[in-house]
Amino acid sequence: MEKIVIEGGTKLKGEVKISGAKNSALPIMAASILSSGESIISNTPHVRDVITMGNLLARLGIGFNIQNGRAALNNSSISSVEAPYDLVKTMRASVLVLGPLLARMGEAAVSLPGGCAIGARPINLHIMGLKKMGAEITLSHGYIRVRAKQLRGATIYFDVPTVTGTENMMMAAVLADGVTVIENAACEPEIIDLAVALISMGADISGAGSNIIRIKGVSSLNPLDYSIIPDRIETGTFIAAAGITRGDIRIRSCNPGHLKAVIDKMNEAGLKITYENNILNVKGPERPEHVDIKTMYYPGFPTDMQAQFMALMSVSGGTSLITENIFENRFMHVAELKRMGADIKVEGSTATVRGASALKGAPVMATDLRASASLVLAGLAAEGTTVVDRIYHLDRGYEKIEEKLKQLGAQIKRTG
Ligand code: EPU
Repeated sequence: MEKIVIEGGTKLKGEVKISGAKNSALPIMAASILSSGESIISNTPHVRDVITMGNLLARLGIGFNIQNGRAALNNSSISSVEAPYDLVKTMRASVLVLGPLLARMGEAAVSLPGGCAIGARPINLHIMGLKKMGAEITLSHGYIRVRAKQLRGATIYFDVPTVTGTENMMMAAVLADGVTVIENAACEPEIIDLAVALISMGADISGAGSNIIRIKGVSSLNPLDYSIIPDRIETGTFIAAAGITRGDIRIRSCNPGHLKAVIDKMNEAGLKITYENNILNVKGPERPEHVDIKTMYYPGFPTDMQAQFMALMSVSGGTSLITENIFENRFMHVAELKRMGADIKVEGSTATVRGASALKGAPVMATDLRASASLVLAGLAAEGTTVVDRIYHLDRGYEKIEEKLKQLGAQIKRTG
């Protein structure tokens, strides 16, 4: 099994280019199902989850290839409407084909995702919304089967603003009969990106980015030719990398406007961050200040940056409180960070992190995507050698991370 080996202690210096957003690429690839013909998606990151989505679309009969960030999807004919267990169990975002398959084919079946490393993550709100739009839903042999000759517009209220739930409703509603209104919709930049992509296909959508989205169904859509936004979580991870290594780096091809909460907290922690247009300059402090965070729906502090921020706080000059409000089990990185000398105590949804003067390299195990990123960050700052095992988690969402870090001077390599 591949591992990442890091010799810690090098200050990062130089320039890094951010890839396209994984969490935009996945729904936008699924959105291609809504039209017939060849869709092109540029700035697509070559990460494991994108390949899994491509493999899933290929199982549905859609031609898929990706080269130099350009994904081509040929969906002139769809031969299956089923997202099978072997793919859904490796990537929960497979559920994103439910809405578009139902809209185009009148039916879909998706293996019900089980629990996952960061929480129970149910899909009850996706199901509730589709039901409101007139879909008939059955659960059999572990599969959710949905069927509707013609979906009807409806008003859908979400108890919690679910990201992929909002995306599924948008993709189901674009070809429905009448107007759909999603209330308490998620507001993440990836929702806006999907809306802009759908509008470029001919959809009629307004309000994306606010908590009320209105979609008026149209009779057909054109294939995509679209370039996706930069990955805000990859950007935030490199900001944290400069912060934890006392580095001085320039981050290119990013969108600082999508990271206001993260930049604010990083500034509070003593990082010097300046930006113009799509470039961020980040200088790390001698030692980070202690800062409290609470994860929140966008525009709050993203749960996908919680683990990386905790790595930074584990070497701060004081005590910081980190509260996870989105997922109930997203502290799996704590036990591993502790193996490197971090002083962290978890009670309920809050971790108390007492900054240590130094972390020590150790063998550690990645448990999910963002947890792995936090271990890499800790390894960059630690004294001695850190070996991160199970890095397939990291490869799900970070494109060429060790190459990018190496370019910045990190002593990092992949083995095994
Ligand atoms: N929820 C429900 N019922 C539902 C759906 C969600 O109760 O039907 C709850 C969840 O359990 C959670 C909250 O709503 O407590 C928010 O979850 P959400 O549905 O927004 O998460 P998601 O759509 O499954 C996306 C990202 C995640 C990111 C979350 C939160 C994609 C493909 N995934 O997941 O990204 O953490 O939003 O921002 O967009 C990652 O990239 O590492 C990652 C996990």
